[in-house]
Amino acid sequence: MPNACILGIETSCDETAAAVVRSGEQLLSNAVLSQIATHQPYGGVVPELASREHLRAIVPVVRKALEEAGHTYESVDAIAVTQGPGLAGALLVGISYAKALAFALEKPLITVNHLEGHIHAVLLEERQKGNFEVQFPVLALVVSGGHTHLFLAEERGNGWVYENIGRTRDDAAGEAYDKVAKLLGLGYPGGPVIDVLARQGNQQAVRFGPAQIKHSNRGVPKEKQTPHDFSFSGIKTAVLRYVELEGMRDSVAARQKALAGLATPRPEDILPLCDQKTLDLVASFQRAVVDDLVSKTLDAARERDVRTLFVTGGVAANSQLRSTFEMEAAKEGIPVYFPSRKLSTDNAAMIAAAAYPKYLAKDFASPEFSAEASLVLR
Ligand code: KG4
Ligand code: ZN
Repeated sequence: MPNACILGIETSCDETAAAVVRSGEQLLSNAVLSQIATHQPYGGVVPELASREHLRAIVPVVRKALEEAGHTYESVDAIAVTQGPGLAGALLVGISYAKALAFALEKPLITVNHLEGHIHAVLLEERQKGNFEVQFPVLALVVSGGHTHLFLAEERGNGWVYENIGRTRDDAAGEAYDKVAKLLGLGYPGGPVIDVLARQGNQQAVRFGPAQIKHSNRGVPKEKQTPHDFSFSGIKTAVLRYVELEGMRDSVAARQKALAGLATPRPEDILPLCDQKTLDLVASFQRAVVDDLVSKTLDAARERDVRTLFVTGGVAANSQLRSTFEMEAAKEGIPVYFPSRKLSTDNAAMIAAAAYPKYLAKDFASPEFSAEASLVLR
């Protein structure tokens, strides 16, 4: 197989990222500039601000990635960029820059689906560890702030083909973390904070019923049915109802006030501001989300005779999700792989890694392509 160093560029949401990866298996650099401080006061990503921040950051971030990899614009073999799904304006910044670079440098340009990128983050790190023996079919749970999808993957030629067998009917799991954190006055993003706070709470304190899927697949054409669906909006509403019934509004307001002065509050800043009732609620919320993700994924794995599990995306950084998956998948005898925490959340190494099979297949982008906010993975 030819050696190829690919410069990846990712700007689909609130991280401006660039990385250089050799032949889909060796991470040479991974530069990520997070916009968390910009979006923190709003409790979520503001699309217009995201585009503006990407514009500011894209050139220095790409330079940093090249420098750290010991590369120059001229020495990389190809440029890869996220085409979608994501925020259209944010995607366009990366795409315009990647197009300009490829044109000026006369290098091939490769488009990558962000979700395939998350899946390839796992593969990249397994290959880096020397594991080239992934058994198919692979079931990949991509679980982040924007997505909760189950993809069944098979190898075809140099690349992979995907069947989407599950998705969220409403909120993504990371979105539920972020909304619950917002309504409890815990800052943004919610996942990393709740991950830490939940360790101090009683996860049996509040009982949340199993997620109800409101709409069945009835009436949906067979080829579009996704039988292993998720739903997370109910649990968010249940947390809100609990806060109101238990009279927790004042303690939430006090916490919001105390954190208002901090640009990026850390879990250490937030923990002393939480009473036991809040910690118990957070722990119970996390237990319910983790159990739902793990049990539905393993149901699908059993049904489809899956040989390997991948769990990836921002929420895959969660410590309880990892330990529960490891324990439950071991009972089924299915190996489960996660990316390192750094490659779980958005990054460009995953984009450069996913581009390598396309590079081998000479699957290059035409200059007319544009951002696709709802790009589907097949
Ligand atoms: O993959 P990502 O960086 O961006 C998207 O593609 O959405 O994921 C960000 C999401 C946020 O919702 C964040 O709260 C969540 O991942 N997240 C976590 C953890 N770290 C990040 N959720 C739970 N536990 C964590 N440790
Ligand atoms: Zn992502």
